[in-house]
Amino acid sequence: MTAEISLEGRTILISGASRGIGLAIAEASAAAGANVVLASRKQDGLDVAASAIREQGGTALPVACHMGHPDEVAALFDRAAAEFGEIHGLVNNAATNPYFGPLLGIEEPAFDKTVEVNLKGPLTASRHFVDQASAGASIVNVASIMGQIAAPLQGAYAMTKAGLISMTRTLAHELGPVGVRVNAIAPGLVETRFASALIENPELSQGFIDRTPLRRHGQPDEIAGAAVYMLSEAASFMTGHIMVIDGGVSSG
Ligand SMILES: NC(=O)c1ccc[n+]([C@@H]2O[C@H](COP(=O)([O-])OP(=O)(O)OC[C@H]3O[C@@H](n4cnc5c(N)ncnc54)[C@H](OP(=O)(O)O)[C@@H]3O)[C@@H](O)[C@H]2O)c1
Repeated sequence: MTAEISLEGRTILISGASRGIGLAIAEASAAAGANVVLASRKQDGLDVAASAIREQGGTALPVACHMGHPDEVAALFDRAAAEFGEIHGLVNNAATNPYFGPLLGIEEPAFDKTVEVNLKGPLTASRHFVDQASAGASIVNVASIMGQIAAPLQGAYAMTKAGLISMTRTLAHELGPVGVRVNAIAPGLVETRFASALIENPELSQGFIDRTPLRRHGQPDEIAGAAVYMLSEAASFMTGHIMVIDGGVSSG
């Protein structure tokens, strides 16, 4: 047992790793010594991300995978195992938010897609992960503060994030006895493509900043350190925890 925040000798699979928060977590994990498996839908973006990590001396395997398609998720885990053997950490980070509007106005295809990627994806990936994991393994779910509060105009997305938080707590209880830890990060507004509709709207963006004690949006790097900590042995007694990283906006 060590209190060091290191991922030396470990393999970490990160979904949604081609850009934004997922890429920042992948880069920080590689810098902490991990082999990283990068998954997202588009191979091009993954290849660029993997090259950047390799240039820094890391080991990265880019695998195209739609996290809402169970057959592709199964193939992803097969590919990762063939390359690295055991996978020690899983970061369920990929998500989608195709609809912005009143909750009751969402059409079924958009609702189904949101649930498929944001909830079924992490559940399917967690199942494959646990099937091959041993004691000391760690799952990190990237949720959102929107999963803990009312979320007008982002209701379906927020429902899936609330579900992911529930999944985190339940799996922590069910997997704790076999030594698998499950935690979540709940970010506030972070400057990525995902958040561009909010960030590029001056009124919405400034309103959010005004409500945030640190008076700014977050950057992907500011989420990554927490994920590395949760994945490492330094967090060996931490499970079922939801870590809010939001510049203080939801603190009062
Ligand atoms: N940014 C924020 O303000 C914020 C706040 C709270 C929580 N979050 C959460 O943080 C996580 C990452 O978001 P981000 O802001 O970093 O977004 P981002 O920069 O847009 O990155 C999203 C990543 O997910 C991948 N992706 C999208 N749909 C996918 C699918 N069906 N299957 C596999 N990969 C998929 C994208 O690559 P491809 O296009 O190649 O698939 C990309 O790598 C999400 O869970 C989001 O809900 C973000």
